[in-house]
Amino acid sequence: MTIAVTGATGQLGRLVIARLKKTVPASGIVALVRSPAKAADLGVEAREADYGNPETLARALAGVDTLLLISSNEIGQRAAQHRNVVNAAKAAGVGRIVYTSLLHADRSPLSLAEEHRATEADIKASGLPFTILRNGWYTENHTGSVGAALAGGAVIGSAGDGRISSATRADYADAAVAVVTGTGHEGRTYELAGDEAVTLADLAAEISRQSGKNIPYRNLPEADYAAILAGFGLPEVFAKGIASWDADASKGALFDDGRQLSALIGRPTTPLSAAVAAALP
Ligand SMILES: NC(=O)c1ccc[n+]([C@@H]2O[C@H](COP(=O)([O-])OP(=O)(O)OC[C@H]3O[C@@H](n4cnc5c(N)ncnc54)[C@H](OP(=O)(O)O)[C@@H]3O)[C@@H](O)[C@H]2O)c1
Repeated sequence: MTIAVTGATGQLGRLVIARLKKTVPASGIVALVRSPAKAADLGVEAREADYGNPETLARALAGVDTLLLISSNEIGQRAAQHRNVVNAAKAAGVGRIVYTSLLHADRSPLSLAEEHRATEADIKASGLPFTILRNGWYTENHTGSVGAALAGGAVIGSAGDGRISSATRADYADAAVAVVTGTGHEGRTYELAGDEAVTLADLAAEISRQSGKNIPYRNLPEADYAAILAGFGLPEVFAKGIASWDADASKGALFDDGRQLSALIGRPTTPLSAAVAAALP
């Protein structure tokens, strides 16, 4: 039984590999990576698998029973990259494919959703047994800017009072491990989101509580927020993307109260208070 994980040198992939090693023998785990040199510390076999290079994918997928396809971070190229993986998986006779998609990908207004819809369709068209893990927002997307909020004296964003059902990467990693090591998930699509739904004002209040400083939430028009992010040095397209996802969140696009994530992992998702505590300098 061989379980292969793409993006294994990424943040989510590393958590998945570490958790898988606690569940199944390391000899049954293969890390599929763009740069094998970056995978030396993973403690499992690493095979070169570049989404843009089908020859590497064909070699890397030989003998794989279960493939966890962690979506690529190369926005705009992902549909084609993932299609290469799905085609290679089919040709290699992979037994099943588990894909990390986006919460409510079928109806999400987020610009990110289109590529996930394309990949979900490709996977279904492949005829391979599949499971779709529609991951919600990472709590780390917000707690990653705790330092900036403390330095700047405010949490900024464009999410208004939109409630965001985020969960940590570790929560999503546990869900992926439960599915790739478990049975009965074929043909299922899970909407994975945190038990708690919080606004950016809640985030600011939690940072204030834990730091002892007064850190308010300052809601900005989408264009102003994008301009500030670009001013911090983010590429303009990415800055505009982040601001637009916040604007979508203000209308509820990142909210979900189905609690399928905590059901899959058999424990509550990580509370905001714990994620903020982990992020405080
Ligand atoms: N739900 C959310 O809030 C959220 C937020 C951010 C991202 N995401 C999505 O979730 C995925 C996993 O998240 P993450 O935090 O682990 O992202 P990450 O740390 O950026 O990892 C992305 C992984 O994709 C790999 N990759 C990129 N291009 C590749 C290529 N051409 N061939 C092979 N591998 C390639 C990277 O390889 P290297 O290690 O070699 O760079 C890396 O391992 C992201 O890629 C993105 O699709 C979701």
